[in-house]
Amino acid sequence: MLPLLEVSGLTVGIKKDDKFLIAVNDITFTVNKGEIVGLAGESGCGKTLTALSIPNLLPQAAKILNGEIIYDGRKLTSLDNKEIYKIRGKEITMIFQEVRQSLNPLIKTGVQITEILELNGNKDKDENKLKAYEILKLLGFDNPEKIYNAYPHQLSGGMCQRVMAAIAVINRPRLLLADEPSSSLDIESQERILSILTQMNCEHGMSVLIISHDLSIIRQFCSRFLVMYAGKIVEEGLSMNFFSPLHPYTKALINAIPDKSKRGTKLENSPGKVPSIEDSFCGCPFAPRCKKVKSICLETFPEATVNGSSRVYCHFPETGEIIE
Ligand SMILES: Nc1ncnc2c1ncn2[C@@H]1O[C@H](COP(=O)(O)OP(=O)(O)O)[C@@H](O)[C@H]1O
Ligand SMILES: [Mg+2]
Repeated sequence: MLPLLEVSGLTVGIKKDDKFLIAVNDITFTVNKGEIVGLAGESGCGKTLTALSIPNLLPQAAKILNGEIIYDGRKLTSLDNKEIYKIRGKEITMIFQEVRQSLNPLIKTGVQITEILELNGNKDKDENKLKAYEILKLLGFDNPEKIYNAYPHQLSGGMCQRVMAAIAVINRPRLLLADEPSSSLDIESQERILSILTQMNCEHGMSVLIISHDLSIIRQFCSRFLVMYAGKIVEEGLSMNFFSPLHPYTKALINAIPDKSKRGTKLENSPGKVPSIEDSFCGCPFAPRCKKVKSICLETFPEATVNGSSRVYCHFPETGEIIE
């Protein structure tokens, strides 16, 4: 498969006083054409900043310090704002984790949906309205006209996220970045959003990078997975092998099921928490929580052990036994 997105050596810093604290630390991954890739990891591991780096939507305090992001042969990290603006909203779109902050509270949802069609050259207002109704219907709204004429505050969080999903897919983007599209939602919104993502993936070959706390989503919807811990990718592989993990952190995440989908779930067998970006460390960031820790783990970050499509960054990887 051909890569659509190639991220290499991406490092993102958060400005604090007059220096940068590292929140995403030298990560490399690809998303191929037509592929759905899952990104997992506890809160605070750098997943959102990774996704926001791609369309150049990082918060003001954050900055790409190193690395390259190449999308369809174009180096996004060298484009100016005007050039990236042409790609964003058309070819690369995003469903944001903070959905209420992403919709404009003063503008009716319908206008926010059709605006994106207009931005892409569709000027026929009636046609755009019908397209908006159609996508809202696909997202499970039986009365799309009512949603079209509503303000975001008149809708529940789940409904707002479905509207966000409508905005993200209506132009049939080539790459969708979906940041926790199913967290803290009602079941219907969750199912509708995942269903439209898979539909767009099957019918139009849309590639998806889906960030999720819910590990069953990784297994069910993704072909490959990435696991992040403290700004580092610690394991990647085929989703069908996700439940036979090689990294002790991936294993701990899986063992935290059934509470896995809750934010901030404690990893029972690995007490402690994700280090803050203020904590400096050398070696493997998971070492302080790892049951198998040895002195080398505290000294150097491990090189990747590569086996087929799986890659694990651990001095003492697991054997890949299946966890039921
Ligand atoms: N705007 C910001 N200002 C300061 N710190 C931030 C900001 N955004 C993210 N961070 C910090 O960067 C780290 C990674 O954040 P994030 O990418 O949101 O993690 P995740 O999405 O995996 O929960 C966290 O420690 C978080 O506190
Ligand atoms: Mg996040």
